Amino acid sequence: MNEPPAHAENVRLSAAAITAACAGLKPKIAIILGSGLGGLAAKVAGAVTLAYQSLPGFPVLTVAGHAGQLIIGQLNGVPVIVLNGRKHFYETNDSYPLKTMIRAVHAAGAETLFLSNAAGSLRAHIGVSELMLITDHINFLGLNPLVGPNDDTFGPRFFPVADAWDKELGAKVKAVAKQNSITLHEGVYVAFRGPSFETPAEIRMAQGWGGDAVGMSSVPDCLIARHCGMKVVGVSCITNMGAGLSDEKLSHAHTLANAAKGAGAFERLVLAAVKVL
Ligand code: HPA
Repeated sequence: MNEPPAHAENVRLSAAAITAACAGLKPKIAIILGSGLGGLAAKVAGAVTLAYQSLPGFPVLTVAGHAGQLIIGQLNGVPVIVLNGRKHFYETNDSYPLKTMIRAVHAAGAETLFLSNAAGSLRAHIGVSELMLITDHINFLGLNPLVGPNDDTFGPRFFPVADAWDKELGAKVKAVAKQNSITLHEGVYVAFRGPSFETPAEIRMAQGWGGDAVGMSSVPDCLIARHCGMKVVGVSCITNMGAGLSDEKLSHAHTLANAAKGAGAFERLVLAAVKVL
């Protein structure tokens, strides 16, 4: 897809609106809240909320469980930008809304992107409602958000992703989880395009590839953020076992209900983690 003529301008305008709303606060961390994990938004102290509709080029959201609000404030005394809601690649082929969102928070000063998502487990020891630190990913989306003309002002045409998920930050999140007695598994996140959940055969394939969890998000976000030089750390909230690994019937309602069960631990983890990241 060609870059829309207004993309760079949208990034500039949105970044300026975010910086103005920060009113002197200098958030270094932006947090994208995944499906069913929006509760953290309510924990932001001194919140200034910008609707995505007011930010040029930001996504227009359609999926239940995704609010579409950018919230500036403090979590546990640390300035943050919380992005409550994003557009998935099962909704669109257009990567520009997501690019605008991530590039704008980066231009507004965020150096680290904390990603979260709901995911299915591929491993018996990674249980429902538990959390998994993403140590690496497999991009099985069939697309890369950086395909198309490259705007060198955002990042280089080619870039390595051997260090897509930051090891140092990941170790800090692990340490914080331990200190707070929060179970935090580690593993490889496999991104499927969706919107259908996987077949049992696809789940076996993803297991064979070395995947530990499956989901429909976060990989594009990670790639866009790494392209523009942000560090990325991410946590999956396990909402189900992958198709065929248990008798549960998968649905979005099921995802949201089980994300709610893991949300308490997720919120405690993020509140503690922002202090050390
Ligand atoms: N597969 C893909 N995406 C998901 C799943 C799953 O099992 N659970 C939550 N999001």
